[in-house]
Amino acid sequence: MSDIHANYPALKAIEEFVRPHRFHRIVHAGDFTVYGTFPNETIRWFREREHAVCIAGNTDRRVLDLLAGGELKKPRKEEKRVMYFWTCGHLLPENVDFLKSLPDQADLAIGDVRINVIHGDFDGEEGSSSPGAPEGWLRKLAKDSPHQVHVLGHTHVPYHKIIDGVHFINPGSVGRPFDADPRASFAILTVSSRKTAVEHIRIRYPVEQVIADLAKNGLPDIYAEMYRTGKKLN
Ligand SMILES: [Fe+2]
Repeated sequence: MSDIHANYPALKAIEEFVRPHRFHRIVHAGDFTVYGTFPNETIRWFREREHAVCIAGNTDRRVLDLLAGGELKKPRKEEKRVMYFWTCGHLLPENVDFLKSLPDQADLAIGDVRINVIHGDFDGEEGSSSPGAPEGWLRKLAKDSPHQVHVLGHTHVPYHKIIDGVHFINPGSVGRPFDADPRASFAILTVSSRKTAVEHIRIRYPVEQVIADLAKNGLPDIYAEMYRTGKKLN
């Protein structure tokens, strides 16, 4: 998974869907926070799962900077900035500590297969405007990497590319998809020494519950459209 952005109802819908299956690991490639109103529920869910592999995303780092007294340089739009300030005002201390504990990348192995997890904000803070990671950037990563699989997030668009024999997998965004499909996006990765398989899955979740909670908290109603259509706001 990646880019939940505090959309706990979407995370719970995925949990329900995968409940009959068993997994070695749950991976989250960053951006736990901001835009949804459920950052504490989202982070607690991962804190309770020892086999979860989690890293920080650019949004999480911005939240931590702001909490440390830093200035919020981006985003500039007031309707976006208010979501960061709201998040900082509502995050419980134990969940701030969790965000602080997150690395920028993680390595894991399933059998002989080495997997790297990075958020993938390759183009500075606004890299998510790209529909997918630039091919040249992935090619360089493939050349320099000892890993057979890279899991990335950040673009909020699912993809699976094989470059020079290295797999690049973006499961898409759980809580804030940008590919005009409003359903929660995630992927199931199956690895063995002979084969790497990726299944991208989309799940419906109670979008209206997320929208209603934004309203309850007095947050901008422009996000209703984003959640209903699965399109980025600009
Ligand atoms: Fe994100």
